[in-house]
Amino acid sequence: MSTSLERKTGFSTRAIHFGYSPADNQGALVPPIHTSATYAFPDAAYGGRCFAGTETGYFYTRVANPTLALLESRLASLEEGAAAVVFGSGMGAITATLWSLLEQGDEVLADLTLYGCTFSFLNHGLTRFGVTVRHVDMTDPANVQRAMGPKTRVIYFETPANPNMRLVDIAAVSAIAHAGGAKVVVDNTYCTPYLQQPLLLGADASVHSMTKYLGGHGDLTAGAAIFADAELALRVRLFGLKDMTGAVMSAHDAHLVMRGLKTLTLRMDRHCQSAQKVAELLQGHTATQVVHFPGLPTFAQHELAKRQMRQFGGMVAFELKGGMQAGIRFMDALKLVTRAVSLGDAETLAQHPASMTHSTYTPEEREAHGIREGLVRLSVGLEDIGDVLDDIQQALDRAI
Ligand SMILES: Cc1ncc(COP(=O)(O)O)c(C=O)c1O
Repeated sequence: MSTSLERKTGFSTRAIHFGYSPADNQGALVPPIHTSATYAFPDAAYGGRCFAGTETGYFYTRVANPTLALLESRLASLEEGAAAVVFGSGMGAITATLWSLLEQGDEVLADLTLYGCTFSFLNHGLTRFGVTVRHVDMTDPANVQRAMGPKTRVIYFETPANPNMRLVDIAAVSAIAHAGGAKVVVDNTYCTPYLQQPLLLGADASVHSMTKYLGGHGDLTAGAAIFADAELALRVRLFGLKDMTGAVMSAHDAHLVMRGLKTLTLRMDRHCQSAQKVAELLQGHTATQVVHFPGLPTFAQHELAKRQMRQFGGMVAFELKGGMQAGIRFMDALKLVTRAVSLGDAETLAQHPASMTHSTYTPEEREAHGIREGLVRLSVGLEDIGDVLDDIQQALDRAI
């Protein structure tokens, strides 16, 4: 298939076929896994050109590899970007991108709520190297406008945010950032490119933990960054990945992600339908105080969700009236739903952010960043929805 034709095919078709031709690979339907760490140079001058960056062939897998390159081209197509770089984890993607965009003296504006390790990298990592990090409530773009300063280089946010589902208006914040000369990096892990395409809304980079929905089966750790500008992607590859993090992805895991991508749209449709039902059950139960799910008409940013998301996702967060103790009673009463961190798997998973994924915040930081002690996060899986609802119902009854 030529690239121009591939661009015109639908999302699911590209998730299955993009960039690969069996005819070029001895008829193999499934792309081969290239495990070689290094690649032979036809002559010394060629090797020199590879290191000088003037030759684009493969020479060392930390920089580029045919299996990783196929996955990268497929991700760039799905997210409508110019180029993608894959990594050994979501944190690898986030750190390599930020290392490449920032210098000593620069400032990052970040939303109030972020995944715990991203928060830690910004506040306990980058700040040690002379980068200033300021948190702004980005649910109102006017706050970003007010906070922009001469040293602001990067605007960073998740939408929906992990764990409390706050949304950020990607188009509005990107317009403000660009007017002030800053780049916008969006963590699109919760949505995947099927539900949300930040680059089309003006963002410069979309980062993912592919450990979640893109892999989809809880059996790998991987990350990706997709860029609107190929030159920036190359900078992240040759500096953030090659030199600063070395967070290279394994070709075996790239193969698994490509297997996951084949069913991405089917899985996401089911995750979204089931999460809507779970959110409605939670909202109707006397034990819950508040349910955070973009698909509920009562959700404060429901209109924004309808504008920038294709569907409302598979993640639901809620707070129980009984706070921390009720949360623990709920978690311990679950029988089918698994008590585990991570998300995007076939299994429905429940976790308590304050003691788990967001324990990298201090209690004061959690309070300031809107992560309540009694908050429970659900990643709604692919089981029969009746079984999931029954289990949540009985656990809620015991949580009162
Ligand atoms: C929203 C989000 N971004 C990034 C990450 C980090 O990804 P990884 O665990 O693959 O490094 C996570 C992990 O839970 C996440 O939830």
